[in-house]
Amino acid sequence: MELMKGARANVLEAIGNIPIIKLNSVANEVESEIYVKLEYMNPGGSVKDRIGSYMMDQAVKEGKIKPGGTIIEGTSGNTGVGLAMWAAINGYRCIFVLADKQSKEKIDNLRAFGAKVVVCPTNVAPEDPRSYYSVSKKLSETIPNSFYVNQYDNLHNRDTHYNWTAPEIFEQTSGDFDVFLATIGTGGTITGCGRYFKEKMPDVKIVGVDCEGSIVAHYAKTGEMTEAYSYVLEGVGEDFIPENYDFDQIDDWEVVGDKESFLMTRKLLKEEGIYAGGSAGAAICGALKYAKKLKEPKKILVLLHDSGNRYASKIYNDDWMSDNGYLDNSFDVQITDVLEKLNKKVDLAIINDTATIGEAIAMMDTKGISQLPCVDTEGNIKGLVTEKRLLKPIMMGEFSKEDNISLAFVHKYKVVEKNDLLSTVADALLQKEVALITDNGKLVNILTDIDVLHYLSETKSS
Ligand SMILES: Cc1ncc(COP(=O)(O)O)c(C=O)c1O
Repeated sequence: MELMKGARANVLEAIGNIPIIKLNSVANEVESEIYVKLEYMNPGGSVKDRIGSYMMDQAVKEGKIKPGGTIIEGTSGNTGVGLAMWAAINGYRCIFVLADKQSKEKIDNLRAFGAKVVVCPTNVAPEDPRSYYSVSKKLSETIPNSFYVNQYDNLHNRDTHYNWTAPEIFEQTSGDFDVFLATIGTGGTITGCGRYFKEKMPDVKIVGVDCEGSIVAHYAKTGEMTEAYSYVLEGVGEDFIPENYDFDQIDDWEVVGDKESFLMTRKLLKEEGIYAGGSAGAAICGALKYAKKLKEPKKILVLLHDSGNRYASKIYNDDWMSDNGYLDNSFDVQITDVLEKLNKKVDLAIINDTATIGEAIAMMDTKGISQLPCVDTEGNIKGLVTEKRLLKPIMMGEFSKEDNISLAFVHKYKVVEKNDLLSTVADALLQKEVALITDNGKLVNILTDIDVLHYLSETKSS
């Protein structure tokens, strides 16, 4: 019998064709227009339905797995759902290996598909045998007719977006946008879409949004590998560089924190009716930051990866938000008010980027300060030096006093405008970063975790 008119042959045929809508009140604070592609409308609730289906079709074509085999993946949940849907339709089994910070909803979802779920500790290095990367690999080596999908290094991940997501967007919009922005994890979305758009639209800008604690944006900008620290956002950021990245496709980066992302995720629902996951909040925070730096208004298209119902017990739960300090409104104050209350002096010590390490030590000594921002002749921030980072390498003979100051730069700082909310730097300060405060891009002050503690103790007691 012929398929009923208007019907699709199975659920996999319902992936894609996702609408793009304009953001209204959430984007009011910028002149640029922000549009969002609601990838949570895919049948499995995320953009990862696309890669699950595409990567498995390719694996079968390439003979990597035979009918009835076992699909193994280390997944934060969304890719698991995409793979499980494909497996249900095509008659395969699934084993998923997850890090223990993933939400209960994601784990329950995967089990509901009949998949086996193995939970591993989050805070271990990828090469540790307990990590979810190592466990997934080991399972695939021991189970016959199994295939370790490896969305991180399987280049069919980025090809999915090059061959499917990006052409769909291009067809919908005829390329009527200036900027494409997405949060980054495996790098598949940003690289695949970025490459396609750059081929079609030479002037398009591709912006990646990373999170504080991840190493990717810093690596892309400097080529320097740093150590990741833990964060709560799911799906965004990495502690290594997956093969799916091609940094030539990414023009700019924004970095956002857990708290601002979660508050924005809730705002998206309250003000725009968009029920999306935490990485959507992160993406919109990144889009607003990017838009504020633009000289003229642009059309910014943002891909929202997944659905809010995966986070009902976390981001959308007031108790969870308060218990984790994300709803404390003492942080909803402008940084400029905090500085005023603290009476922080504005004759800020700054050093030029042509200075030597010896000059920096002398300046810190005379001024009695333990950290010193460094700027170029136009006042642009180039780095930060701290007492701790200077003294030990000098004593160990690693640097000499005549060396240029840039050798001793630390990158544990976050740049914010003085009118931004204190909440935008709360996560960074908790991680012992320093906030460098600017006024129209020019450095005017510095804020540390101790300053914020003073501020909070004064406001709570008054
Ligand atoms: C919720 C969420 N947001 C963003 C991303 C990042 O996308 P990509 O892996 O394509 O870089 C992921 C990927 O795991 C995700 O699950």
